[in-house]
Amino acid sequence: MKHTLYIIGALILLVACNNSTSKKEVENVSVEKPYNAKIGAGKFDNVILSDTLDEKLIAEGKKLLISKCICCHNLTTEASTGPGWLNITERRSTEWILNFLTNSEEMLDKDKTLKAQISAYKVRMPNQNLSDNDAKAILEFMRNNDKNN
Ligand code: HEC
Repeated sequence: MKHTLYIIGALILLVACNNSTSKKEVENVSVEKPYNAKIGAGKFDNVILSDTLDEKLIAEGKKLLISKCICCHNLTTEASTGPGWLNITERRSTEWILNFLTNSEEMLDKDKTLKAQISAYKVRMPNQNLSDNDAKAILEFMRNNDKNN
């Protein structure tokens, strides 16, 4: 009888110890979201756009692209230092574009198609430090460029 009690006691301790270690292990594993190739990585995961374009935003986007982007991107399909922008709103989702423009470092590290572009163009696009609104203005410009060409 005594022996059986000892064995039961030992078993309880064993189970208890195992539980506590597995709990610790779970706490230590960081829960990182897997990379989503369609929407990219960043704060934009479900953006609904109006069908009508916002002329004021387009004009803001144009100003930004002239000062920050046109040195490396054409508005046609022709490559420059980076890929041409024409049809970008068909090739990439709205969320992907907004995430890339506001979170380019992480996307350049994780996105397979961007990594392929880095080796093809032999340049890693520098972070442009765009605000959410800057990114939306550039997206609006791109939508307008794609609509008109
Ligand atoms: C110094 C050159 C350079 C500048 C400046 C630059 N880019 Fe880029 N961009 C690149 C390169 C090169 C790539 C391809 C990815 C890579 O190699 O990093 C790229 C990729 C992109 C892509 C993805 C294109 C695709 O076909 O999927 C977008 C969108 C983009 N850039 C937007 C911008 C915007 C908006 C600006 C200005 C705010 C800008 N870029 C400024 C060089 C540049």
